[in-house]
Amino acid sequence: MAEEKKLFKVTIDNITVEVAPGTTILNAARQIGSDVTPPAMCYYSKLQGSGGKCRTCLVEVAAGSTADPRPMPKLVASCRTNVMDGMIVKNITSERVLDARAGVVEFLLINHPLDCPICDQAGECHLQDLSYEHGKEGTRYEFARRTFEKEDIGPYIQLHMTRCILCYRCTYVADQLTDKRVHGILDRGDHAEISTYISKAIDNDFSGNMIDVCPVGALTDKTFRFKNRVWFTKPLDAHRDCPTCCGKVTLWNRGDEVLRVTARKDQWGEVQSYDGKPGWICNTCRFDKKKLSDWVIEGPMKVNRHSVISANKYIDAKRSHETIAEVMGGRQPRLMMDIHNISDVNKPGVHLSELPGPATGDTFTPDHNKE
Ligand code: SF4
Ligand code: FES
Repeated sequence: MAEEKKLFKVTIDNITVEVAPGTTILNAARQIGSDVTPPAMCYYSKLQGSGGKCRTCLVEVAAGSTADPRPMPKLVASCRTNVMDGMIVKNITSERVLDARAGVVEFLLINHPLDCPICDQAGECHLQDLSYEHGKEGTRYEFARRTFEKEDIGPYIQLHMTRCILCYRCTYVADQLTDKRVHGILDRGDHAEISTYISKAIDNDFSGNMIDVCPVGALTDKTFRFKNRVWFTKPLDAHRDCPTCCGKVTLWNRGDEVLRVTARKDQWGEVQSYDGKPGWICNTCRFDKKKLSDWVIEGPMKVNRHSVISANKYIDAKRSHETIAEVMGGRQPRLMMDIHNISDVNKPGVHLSELPGPATGDTFTPDHNKE
């Protein structure tokens, strides 16, 4: 009989959990969940080799192990440090960690533009969340921010290098999911940028997954660009029988119009796994299947209550019982006004997802609608 492996006991912010040897502190903390889990901007459990770049997951090791209970002198990256039996870790209970994390956020924001009002990632941006939780109100930086030559990487993905935090996740997608690895980080220091050869990996069937792994708005979906704010959309879980990928997706709808298709995400913002395999989706599902009839709808996506996307979405709420007809002797309520009779805005005939670019005032002029 195979000998059962002894589990390691690790205590994180006074909560003890037992994990298999070889587990990182971050993954042990994820087993506990909630605020005990350090934020992770570069680690992505489905991408081999990820982690160790951004330092947002720093924690304090107050005792190394039962055998050697000395504290570790420096804060360590929890995504790259394995637990030891009897280890004691401090995350939000450590002033040093909170101070260091605020410093890391300040560094990440040094070159990050204040694009949130016009950025498609707003509302689902991990850097935005991190800044709210750990950032400072102002900046001490007085110099010009980094800028880059604009680069067009094709019809599907928009690259904004100024927003990139160099987490390397997209380079791992190019490396591990596509067959033309021509993508990496060029140069170093404040000249560092994801390779200009990114465009070579872009026509691969799975290249769209770079959008899903990007924690900020550096890689966004061109077909969704400026079409809507994510919190106004209605996310639905749906699937189709796809010969290339798992076919399990989230549709981001406005009314009955599918504005965007993404892989489904788990509570850590990573693509969900099915039968132990990551649920990456192919470009056909992501960019070409933009009709509701292409999909079998499973129901509303469960949105975390703390997410801005949950605004005005009452999942599982029951529709109230309509009583007007009962008290009005059977008469149904009359529609007071049909907005389309008096306004040219939001004409039902205009399909935002089919426009080649963002909608503008011209989109809704009568001339345009006649075409
Ligand atoms: S483009 Fe996005 S995923 Fe790629 S390195 Fe930059 S921040 Fe990371
Ligand atoms: S998540 Fe650990 S260093 Fe980035």
